[in-house]
Amino acid sequence: MTDPTTIDLSKDAAARAAVALVENGMKLGLGTGSTAKVFVDRLAERVHAEGMDLRLASTSKATADQARSLGLVVEELDELGWLDLTIDGADEVDPDLSLIKGGGAAHLREKIVATASDRMVVIADQGKVVDRLGKFKLPVEVIPFGWESTRTHIQRALAELNMADRPVIRRERDGQPIRTDENNYILDLALEEIHDAPALASALSAIAGVVEHGLFLNICNLAIIGRPDGSVVELRREDLE
Ligand code: A5P
Repeated sequence: MTDPTTIDLSKDAAARAAVALVENGMKLGLGTGSTAKVFVDRLAERVHAEGMDLRLASTSKATADQARSLGLVVEELDELGWLDLTIDGADEVDPDLSLIKGGGAAHLREKIVATASDRMVVIADQGKVVDRLGKFKLPVEVIPFGWESTRTHIQRALAELNMADRPVIRRERDGQPIRTDENNYILDLALEEIHDAPALASALSAIAGVVEHGLFLNICNLAIIGRPDGSVVELRREDLE
């Protein structure tokens, strides 16, 4: 078990390296989660210190609230149009820069913002780096109407992909289903290992009632993995090609 302080230092290292990528005048997407939160803190420090002029869009109400509390101006994505860069966390990162996201129930907006950007950079600690995706339960945002039928379709799709009987669990807090910023439910798929992420992504996207799954394939350009000593390791898409 890694000491929490070690993780905090790693997140801070990754966040600082990501802040260094931000250039004056950029349109920037802000991610969601504890690592993205550190990034927003560090970004606000730099913006105020240097008087930077940025235009910001957020992937969640929580991040927008945090950014505004730090004196940053957050606009709607559609006011900005296309973004130069989005910086976000991830729940898992594999060697192909495929991701699982949605541990914070924000992956729908996160995917919309990331895919409306020239570049997506992920910041994470070493614990998020995996050889194969799937240990982290895959979040799937679904419409509340008929969600149990949607779950049945998901279970059938999993069976066709040789993942029969994997638990598909509605995410709840205090006995109540959690609601996303879009007022939907999250189903968490306990898959253990994903052997064909593109096939799974296609199968999930084809199901009525599924709004978006947490597989981010061919979206992330760069992963910055922080270390507790303040250094970082970078995984770059161009090195894969
Ligand atoms: C939010 O829905 C997620 O995609 C987060 O980006 C992801 O869970 C990473 O969060 P942490 O930085 O808190 O681990």
